[in-house]
Amino acid sequence: MKNRPGSRRIILKAPWEIEKLRAANQIVSDILLELKGLVREGITTKDLDEVAEDRIKRVGAKPAFKGYHGYPACTCISVNEEIVHGIPSRKKVLKGGDLVSIDLGVILDGYYGDAAFSCFAGQAPSDQAQELLEVTKKALYAGIAKAKARKRLGDISYAIQEVAQSHGFGVVRKFVGHGIGRALHEPPEVPNYGAKGTGPVLKKGMVLAIEPMLTMGSYEVEIMSDGWTAVTADRSLAAHFEHTIAITDKGPEILSEGFM
Ligand code: MF3
Ligand code: CO
Repeated sequence: MKNRPGSRRIILKAPWEIEKLRAANQIVSDILLELKGLVREGITTKDLDEVAEDRIKRVGAKPAFKGYHGYPACTCISVNEEIVHGIPSRKKVLKGGDLVSIDLGVILDGYYGDAAFSCFAGQAPSDQAQELLEVTKKALYAGIAKAKARKRLGDISYAIQEVAQSHGFGVVRKFVGHGIGRALHEPPEVPNYGAKGTGPVLKKGMVLAIEPMLTMGSYEVEIMSDGWTAVTADRSLAAHFEHTIAITDKGPEILSEGFM
């Protein structure tokens, strides 16, 4: 079948391209680190997006999300039961204990950077919320550890699912990670659930955005009336962590290293 996303070839990147992807992802990492330091009670999600937009422009990069299928902002900022794709808003004032997920993409010299984290505004509202955050990050790193030449894509997916489910958290299926390069979304899709030993064989030069989304309850998703914001169907809390990684001779390299 023509143009079926899953059937398109995975584009391998040369070392000089990985260098460009590293530069783009280091901008993302620096900005996310700054945003993390600004998350607190009383700030609006629009304030955070404006800081991101200013920093992107100052370094001569471009926002990757703004205008993507009509998306209106530089960041996605998703609060509590919002999983991903929350639109920054002046009306969205953070409260103490909010679980805040910030996702940022930039384009530098034609190459994309993409990464995300979750944190709390102030204190975690419960031990279980704190655990959700830690386990989502742990699942991401378990997936990254499997991103090695000659392994298979399903090994990454399985490792993420295994960590999530061993702690009793839901794994969102509707959204997946992705290849990344001269486009934000390239093949392959990187699901956060799956069977080890299945899927494409991983090769040196593949660059992947791995991004588990975990929930405290149902993994079913609802899209709000703005057409973007994805929330848990049961309105339970959700967390999201994302790194862009490259598969190298020496194993996985985290191109967006530095903000987590
Ligand atoms: N990290 C998300 C992704 O890779 C962010 C996309 S937001 C969008 O899909 F606005 F660009 F769609
Ligand atoms: Co992504």
